[in-house]
Amino acid sequence: MTTMAVVADSLVKTYGEVKALDGLHLEIAEGTVLGLLGPNGAGKTTCVRVLTTLLQPDSGRAQVLGIDVLREPRRVRERIGVSGQYAAVDEYLTGFENLDMVGRLYHLGRKPSAARARELLEQFRLEDAANRPVKTYSGGMRRRLDLAGALVARPQVLFLDEPTTGLDPRSRTEMWATLADLVAGGTTVLLTTQYLEEADRLADSIVVVDRGRVIAEGTPDQLKSQVGGEVIEMVIAEPGRVREAAEALGQACRGRVGVDEHTRKLSAPVDGGRPAAAVLVDALRRLDEAGVSVMDVGVRRPTLDDVFLELTGHAAESPAASPSAGSLEEEVVR
Ligand SMILES: Nc1ncnc2c1ncn2[C@@H]1O[C@H](COP(=O)(O)OP(=O)(O)OP(=O)(O)O)[C@@H](O)[C@H]1O
Ligand SMILES: [Mg+2]
Repeated sequence: MTTMAVVADSLVKTYGEVKALDGLHLEIAEGTVLGLLGPNGAGKTTCVRVLTTLLQPDSGRAQVLGIDVLREPRRVRERIGVSGQYAAVDEYLTGFENLDMVGRLYHLGRKPSAARARELLEQFRLEDAANRPVKTYSGGMRRRLDLAGALVARPQVLFLDEPTTGLDPRSRTEMWATLADLVAGGTTVLLTTQYLEEADRLADSIVVVDRGRVIAEGTPDQLKSQVGGEVIEMVIAEPGRVREAAEALGQACRGRVGVDEHTRKLSAPVDGGRPAAAVLVDALRRLDEAGVSVMDVGVRRPTLDDVFLELTGHAAESPAASPSAGSLEEEVVR
C-alpha cells in the first residue's frame, strides 16, 4: 500500500470575504513530488503555510508523516524543510552564519553544523560569498541560500513555495538537478511554481487549485490528455492585428485562444474529433480573408501551459516579466 507523507483534508481558511482555502484536499505519496499549481491568489502559499504549521486553518485536518499538524506542530517542524516564496534569511548574518544557525536550531552540534553549512554553500555555489552578510547578496543568491537552509537537517518532507522564481536559467536548471537528487534519495516534495515546465519535469502528480479549491489533478500526462488532441500555434506579422487574428483562430478552433501580445503568438487547442490539419486550413483561410498575415505556424502536442489555460481561463503568470514593464500581456479571447 502507498504510504501518504502528506494529507490535507477539507482545509478552510478565510480572510474576511476571501476564501483562501475552500475545502482543499490533497495527498502526497511518500517519496514523490507534488506540483501545486494555480493562478495568483489561488491559495497555494496559504496551503503551504498550514501544512508547515505556520498558519491555523479555520477548519479541516492535515497530517505530515502521520503526525497531526495542528496537534503536534513541533514534531512536524522537526521533520520538514521549508523554503518560502519570500526568502527567510537573516540579512545581517553571513551565508555561513545563516546555515550554521539553522543547524544549531536543529541540534546538529557545533562541528557537524558548520560542516553541513560548508557543504551546502558549496553545493549551491555560494562558497565565495559565504562570509559576506546576506544583505550584499543578489536575489538569486538569497533564494539559493534559502533553499540550502531548508535542506540543512536533511528533512524527509520538503515544502518549496516557488523555489526557482527569480533564478537565472542556469541556477534554475541546477536547482532542478538538486531536487531530482533529493527525490531519488527518498525525499517527499510539495512544490508550488509558476513555471509549468518545472512542474512537468519534476512532479509525479499535479494538483491545480483556483479560489482555494482543487479544480484538477493527475499526472502531467493525464492532465495534458484532458486538453485533447493537438494545439495550433501561430505568430502574427503585425502587432495591431493580433486580437483580430485571435478571434479568427478562436472561430476555427471553437475554443479558447491563448494570446501573447508581446511575441504576437497565438495558441489554441483543437477540440477533439476534428483533424488538426483541417482546422488549421480553416483558420488560415479565415485569416487570409481578413487580410491578416501569418509569420509562422505549427501544430504541437499540448503542454501544461495549455492545461492551465484551459482550466483557469488564463495563461500562467510569467514571473520573469516585470509587470511594470507592461510588455508581456497574456490573456484569452473566447
Ligand atoms: N494574511 C492575509 N490577509 C488577508 N488576505 C490574505 C492573507 N494571506 C492571503 N490572503 C488572500 O488569500 C488568497 C490566497 O492567497 P495565497 O497567498 O495563498 O495565494 P497564492 O496561490 O500563493 O498566490 P501567488 O501565486 O500570488 O503566490 C488571496 O486572495 C490573498 O489575497
Ligand atoms: Mg504564493
